[in-house]
Amino acid sequence: MCGVVGYIGNKEAAQILVDGLQRLEYRGYDSAGIAVLDDGKISSGKEMGRLANLERKLEKNPVSGTRGIGHTRWATHGAPSQANSHPHFSSDGAISVVHNGIIENYADLRDELSEQGHTFLSETDTEVVPHLIEQALKDGAASPAEALRCTLQKLRGAYALGVLFQCEPDTIYCARLGSPLIIGLGENENFIASDVPAIINRISEAIYLNDGEMAAIRADGVELCTVDGAAVIPEVKKIEFKAEDAEHAGFETFMLKEIHEQPRILRSMLEKHVSSDGTIDIGTDLSPDYFRKLNRIMIVSCGTAYHAGMYAKLLLENLTGIAVETDLASEFRYRDPKIDPGTLIIPVSQSGETADTLASIRMAKGWGCKIMAVCNVEGSSVVRESDATFFTNCGPEIGVASTKAYTAQQMAFALLSLYIAEVRGNLSRERVQAYLKDLNEVPDALHYVIQKKAEIQVIGEKHHDGPSSLYLGRRYNFPTALEGALKNKEISYQHAEGYAAGEMKHGPIALINEALPVICICTKTADEVYEKMLSNIKEVEARSGRIIAIVSEGDTELSKLTDDVIVVPAVRDEFSPIVNVGALQLLAYYAARARGTDIDKPRNLAKSVTVE
Ligand code: M6R
Repeated sequence: MCGVVGYIGNKEAAQILVDGLQRLEYRGYDSAGIAVLDDGKISSGKEMGRLANLERKLEKNPVSGTRGIGHTRWATHGAPSQANSHPHFSSDGAISVVHNGIIENYADLRDELSEQGHTFLSETDTEVVPHLIEQALKDGAASPAEALRCTLQKLRGAYALGVLFQCEPDTIYCARLGSPLIIGLGENENFIASDVPAIINRISEAIYLNDGEMAAIRADGVELCTVDGAAVIPEVKKIEFKAEDAEHAGFETFMLKEIHEQPRILRSMLEKHVSSDGTIDIGTDLSPDYFRKLNRIMIVSCGTAYHAGMYAKLLLENLTGIAVETDLASEFRYRDPKIDPGTLIIPVSQSGETADTLASIRMAKGWGCKIMAVCNVEGSSVVRESDATFFTNCGPEIGVASTKAYTAQQMAFALLSLYIAEVRGNLSRERVQAYLKDLNEVPDALHYVIQKKAEIQVIGEKHHDGPSSLYLGRRYNFPTALEGALKNKEISYQHAEGYAAGEMKHGPIALINEALPVICICTKTADEVYEKMLSNIKEVEARSGRIIAIVSEGDTELSKLTDDVIVVPAVRDEFSPIVNVGALQLLAYYAARARGTDIDKPRNLAKSVTVE
């Protein structure tokens, strides 16, 4: 969840590190710090709170040197405080460490080290690492690299580590187990980072470190080995996206920028996966025959990606006839699911680093299942641990609240469902083409919704002040209701609850009064769901609830019920959630803006949940 950066070259490291941390701040923003090495001496600066506090501190107390490591923290062990901020140091201050992950056996290690005379200044799990390295050197390790290796062998849990040694000034070290880490390659300079956006403006090639590997990084080269010391030949990968993809591009926040990017992303997914003769290519090695024989799919994911999984279940079951289950990865991994090896597991993840999703993949692999991910980040752990991946390719998503990754996941499942339906013969070629024609309308329909942002802003501002809100939807738009509520609570800190509208009489109707905004997703559908939804809305009206309705163009009846109507283009039922969610993203956005929250970096949240 924390962000790690490192630099070695011949430029001043401090500014490069702070710049990298700025781009990584979406991973954690409780405190930040850097350590820089110059003339055989490490100097450091750390500060609680946002990175700007550290920048101010460094202006007053500059640190100088051409190599260094930096960190932005999302607190796990120990509250956000100066003492708990990274980097952490050995007793003599000669070894400095930044860490993302959790050292699970830190308490035992700390006890052992205390008995050996080490004293600790923080409550963190990380602080044992520099002390263990120091102890290994005292115990006779032949080199810093060997001391680091001995230390890694003692650690249980997850880590992405950056390490600086005063006694080896021409090298920075890094190591990875379970937490992402890349090595960025420059001209006479190299970098480490938790994530590509941190250094995207400085590199075009990178090495993705694998679990159980460590690296010695110098300005002019990189050496990789395993924790056991076996040499590893690095695989250099070209970075596919551009620096501008990780910039604000004139928008006030990344979230607003990412909401606006959605129609373009959906269009380019359609262009990439559907050829001019209407053939769908899902871009994986899994053969049509594999899908013909498939009889069960299990989708696992977290948060917004879980809502995409819920949508996918409805679509896949309806179009392909395959039995599909979806579960929260955090539940799936601790229950006793009855999964046979013939089941296709689909992990869904924007970051590709979510701990629970990864654990679910590993469990399913143990049962002999095939894994086909839907993922946004090339080179991520989910991608590397899966047999195949449907890439959502929506570029870096920096806003903590997921938006474009969600609609791209929905699009991926729409294409996948149609592909499977055709290869299995559930849908004829002609019917698939008819669906594709309707799917092609979705990017423009979403664009139209986003263009109505001024109207949505008025509604968002009008209802932003209540303590709670309720989101109702049915069938395909039940996941949309859950996602709308999640967006609202994440960024506006207003309690929000998503419900299947049919459940109203089983409890939530008791909440309805004149103070409760009830967001009703009631776009016109071809089946009975619309009528049912209409009845639910009348029930809310009868109890004086404040109705905000998402309705289809031309729906005059519903527009009469409330002033607060967001009219969206009518698209095929199955694809309406991709359009409707745009209205809910903006509604949450403007409610949060009116409440004055930090939209891109909401309190307590981190973009990538790499620990349980
Ligand atoms: O990177 P992932 O898609 O695996 O992340 C899953 C969730 O952590 C993520 O969707 C989270 O719920 C977002 N903050 C939602 O906006």
